[in-house]
Amino acid sequence: MTQIIGISGSLRKASYNTSLLRTASELLPDGISIQIFDLSPLPLYNDDLSKGDLPSAVNDFRNSIKRSGGVLIASPEYNYSFTGVLKNALDWASTDTLGNLLTGKPIAIMGASRSVFGTVRGQLHLRQVLIAADANVVQRPEIYIRRAQTVIDEHGNLSDDYTREKIQSLLAALIKRIKATA
Ligand code: FNR
Repeated sequence: MTQIIGISGSLRKASYNTSLLRTASELLPDGISIQIFDLSPLPLYNDDLSKGDLPSAVNDFRNSIKRSGGVLIASPEYNYSFTGVLKNALDWASTDTLGNLLTGKPIAIMGASRSVFGTVRGQLHLRQVLIAADANVVQRPEIYIRRAQTVIDEHGNLSDDYTREKIQSLLAALIKRIKATA
């Protein structure tokens, strides 16, 4: 069984981006599973915390990344970038002190916003940061879900066929990348 770790850049219960990850988990082929990792217990990055016993949330997160064949990220755009919550998690995953777990790791990204921009600026910034982390980022398809409130209902369900097909294609590209690097 190949495991993908799903990371949402939003901690909101009703997050559109977490809904995208839940939708992805409904569209998986056989033999692949997604663990959606809750980033809320992760402390803010502080190199001092790497000395001695690591905080358990950091250990859990890094072990999940290590065990995973690839990472699927869905993040909102905050102030034309991705979120600080996500940046903090990427820093914990890639710190030199503990070892960069993102080197060569297949990663696919997508995002949803209520505005008409669909996280395009935030994703561009995220791609730039993932270059620094030396990750193996899937470039296509790009998924920018604008006016998310029109495709995701108040219960977090995404039933729009076009968007579901796009998410399925992104998953296929990520799985292909995972198999190519295994
Ligand atoms: C936002 N939002 C936002 N939207 C956008 O399209 N471009 C932006 O630059 C910003 N900036 C921004 C900054 C801050 C501090 C907040 C809190 C919000 C709106 C944001 O995209 C919207 O709230 C999304 O619905 C959040 O995603 P989740 O939580 O539903 O996944």
